[in-house]
Amino acid sequence: MRVDLIERARAILRANDRGGYTVPTDRLYPFQWNWDSGFVAMGWATFDEPRAFAEIARLLRGQWDDGLVPQIVFHAPSDDYFPGPDVWGVRHDPPTSGITQPPILATAVRRLLDGARDRAEAEACVASLYPGLRASHRWWEHARDPARTGLAATLHPWETGMDNSPAWDAALARVPVETTTPIRRRDTSHVDAAMRPRGEEYQRFIHLVDLFRDCGWQPERMLAASPFKVIDIATNAILLRAERDLLALAARFGAPGDVAEIEVRIVRKERALGRLWSGVRGHFLSFDLISDALIDAPTSAGLLPLFSGAASAAEVQAMAATLRRWTGQVRCAVPSTAPDDKRFEPLRYWRGPVWAVVNWMIAEGLAGSGEPALAAELRAATTQMIAHGGFSEYFDPRDGTGIGGAEFSWTAAVFLMLGIDSEVEVRS
Ligand code: DGY
Repeated sequence: MRVDLIERARAILRANDRGGYTVPTDRLYPFQWNWDSGFVAMGWATFDEPRAFAEIARLLRGQWDDGLVPQIVFHAPSDDYFPGPDVWGVRHDPPTSGITQPPILATAVRRLLDGARDRAEAEACVASLYPGLRASHRWWEHARDPARTGLAATLHPWETGMDNSPAWDAALARVPVETTTPIRRRDTSHVDAAMRPRGEEYQRFIHLVDLFRDCGWQPERMLAASPFKVIDIATNAILLRAERDLLALAARFGAPGDVAEIEVRIVRKERALGRLWSGVRGHFLSFDLISDALIDAPTSAGLLPLFSGAASAAEVQAMAATLRRWTGQVRCAVPSTAPDDKRFEPLRYWRGPVWAVVNWMIAEGLAGSGEPALAAELRAATTQMIAHGGFSEYFDPRDGTGIGGAEFSWTAAVFLMLGIDSEVEVRS
C-alpha cells in the first residue's frame, strides 16, 4: 500500500478531529455520528490507539440513561447542518438527536482490543466502555424488540444509515409530507443535489422527527406511533455481529450473567434472521412491519448477513454469486443497488453508489465464511477505488469517480483498515 496514501488517510482523520471526536467531513456533517465513529475508531487504531478509544468514549457521552446511543452527538454548535439540536428538542447534555444508527460499536471495540499493541491500556479502556456497550445492546432489545422476536425495528431511514435506499421507498411513501418544522436543508449547499436524497424524502424524514418529538422520545410511544417501521437487514446483521463481539468482551469484562444473557439473544437472532432469506434474489431482504411483507429490493444491505456470521453455506454461495453478478455489471463494486434494477441511480447517495464501509463489512464477512479469495479481491478493489477516486464519501460504480462529500473520515479509516487486513491475509 502506498505510503503517501496512508499518510493522506491519517491526515484526513487528523483534520476532521475536533478535539477528541471526529466529524465525518467538514461542513456537510459537522458533529459526531454514531456508526461513522465506530469505523473511524478502527481507522485511528491503525496508528493511534489512545485516540481510537477516545473516539468511542466521546460518543458514549451522548448515550441516554435508557441505553440509546444516538445517531448524532452535537458537541459544538454549527449552522452547517439541518436538522440541528433545536429541531430534535432532546434534553441531554451534550445535546443529541433522538434516534440511533447501525450498532457497530462493540465490533469496533473488540477489534481495538484484539489488535492492541498496548495491552494493559487497551484492557483498561475496554473495561470502562463495556457497560455502555452492554446498555446499548439491552436498549436494542427493550426499545426495538420488546416482543423478543430476535429482529429489531428501525423507525427512521436515518437510523439505517442508508437514508434513501430503494428498500425504503414504499414504507416511506406512507409517511405524510407535512411538517411542523420548516425545512432548511443545508446538505445541498455543500454537495450537488443530484447526489443527495430528494426534497420529498426530506419532508417525510422531518415529519418523523416532528412525530417522535411529540412522543417525548419515549421508545414505546415511538414504536406504537411510527408510520415507518421496518426490520432493516443491515442493522440486524450488524447487531448480530456486534452481539458476538460483545459476547467475546463479556467473558473478560462482564458481570455474572452477561454471557448467558447475550447467548440467548444470539440464538434468537440467528433463528430469526433466516426468515429474511430470498432464494429468488440470492440475498437477504428487509421486512416492512406495517405491510407485514418482505421488501423486495436488491441492495447491498442484503449481503451484510455475511458479516453477521449467520448465513448457511448455501446462502454464502448464493450471495457470492449475487456479488459476482453485480460486479460484472459495473467497474466498481459493491453498488448499493443492483445495476440492473430500475431503481438504480449511480450518483444518488444510497441508490447506486459504492460505499467503502459496506465493502469492508462484506469483505470481512466473506473472509469469515469460507470465501477468502473473494474477500481479498473485494479488499484489493476497494483499496484501488479509493486510491484512484480519492477519500470521497461514496463512488460512482460505473467508473469509480469519488462523489458526495470529500475528505471523508470513514473512507480514510477503511483505507487504513484494509492495509492491516491485507497484511494479515498475506501472513496467514
Ligand atoms: C444526513 O443528514 O444526511 C444523515 O445521513 C443523517 O444521519
